[in-house]
Amino acid sequence: YQEGDLNLLRTLADQTAVALSNARLVEGLTRLNNDFRRAYNAMQKANLQLEKANQQLERLDRTKSDFISVTSHELRTPLTLISGYAQLLLEDAQKQNNEFHQQLLKGMIDGTNRMHAIISSMLDMASIDAQSIKLRLEPLMLSPLVRMVAKSYTEALKERDITLEISDMQGIPTVEADPEAIEKIIDHLLSNAIKYTPDGGKVSITARLLPPEKSPVREESVEIVVQDTGIGIDPKNLDLIFTKFYQTGEISLHSSGKTKFKGGGPGLGLAIVRGLVQALNGKVWAYSEGHDEETCPGSRFHVVLPRKQPQR
Ligand SMILES: Nc1ncnc2c1ncn2[C@@H]1O[C@H](COP(=O)(O)OP(=O)(O)O)[C@@H](O)[C@H]1O
Ligand SMILES: [Mg+2]
Repeated sequence: YQEGDLNLLRTLADQTAVALSNARLVEGLTRLNNDFRRAYNAMQKANLQLEKANQQLERLDRTKSDFISVTSHELRTPLTLISGYAQLLLEDAQKQNNEFHQQLLKGMIDGTNRMHAIISSMLDMASIDAQSIKLRLEPLMLSPLVRMVAKSYTEALKERDITLEISDMQGIPTVEADPEAIEKIIDHLLSNAIKYTPDGGKVSITARLLPPEKSPVREESVEIVVQDTGIGIDPKNLDLIFTKFYQTGEISLHSSGKTKFKGGGPGLGLAIVRGLVQALNGKVWAYSEGHDEETCPGSRFHVVLPRKQPQR
């Protein structure tokens, strides 16, 4: 061999080596590409399945909401009949001075009233879930609304020996809101305050004006605070209690009744309060040092409502 031949051979050998390694690289890349394609297909299939599951869940959620709303409507009609007739019978028993029948009929009317309240709560919850709450906005004075709700608890407060204090709200300006919604917000908070406060305790309702820089909604607002001297709430539950059907404590231990100590309820009150307050562009939260049925640290519920609603 000559020097030139050797050089040629060396070059050929080098090139063959490069070609070989290129071929291996291409093979590797092709395999990688195939792996990718398979993974991508699997992902697409999984995505499709997820989407289907999601649609099914959405359908289920709608069916559940429809079910609650339809049954609630359907239950309301016969219930109205029962309480209407019981009312008539009670008047009759009163005329005839039949004490025993009066007592039974009052019990029946109490029961139907409670059922009515539960059905209303279910309907409220369903319309909050469906985002179909209708608000009739008007400038409202808080004082008469608070007093009206408080009045409906006069008997319960006396029975449970709980003092209710309502602060002077004369200086509080009007709030643009729906009177029925405000009534419900105060009613749910007040009934809870009474329910979770032992006999002999104290509940107060206060209101104050907040300038924009002090308001969590950054607008001129009115803050309503419902405070009690009750059993309090564990800090880890302060947010959870606003979710629907959430109740602390052992459900089976609850006595029933809207104002009985620790009386049971459907666990919708605070979820409705939050839904309504949010629909009014406000904020609601709870504060308590903790839950203790011996020392009774008490709880505080704050509702902040902007004085004006945005133009719609
Ligand atoms: N003022 C309060 N003091 C202590 N616990 C409270 C108070 N208000 C609400 N809670 C707790 O929050 C839970 C949820 O309240 P709510 O949604 O009104 O349902 P319900 O009154 O039907 O139990 C209650 O079961 C109770 O454990
Ligand atoms: Mg309640």
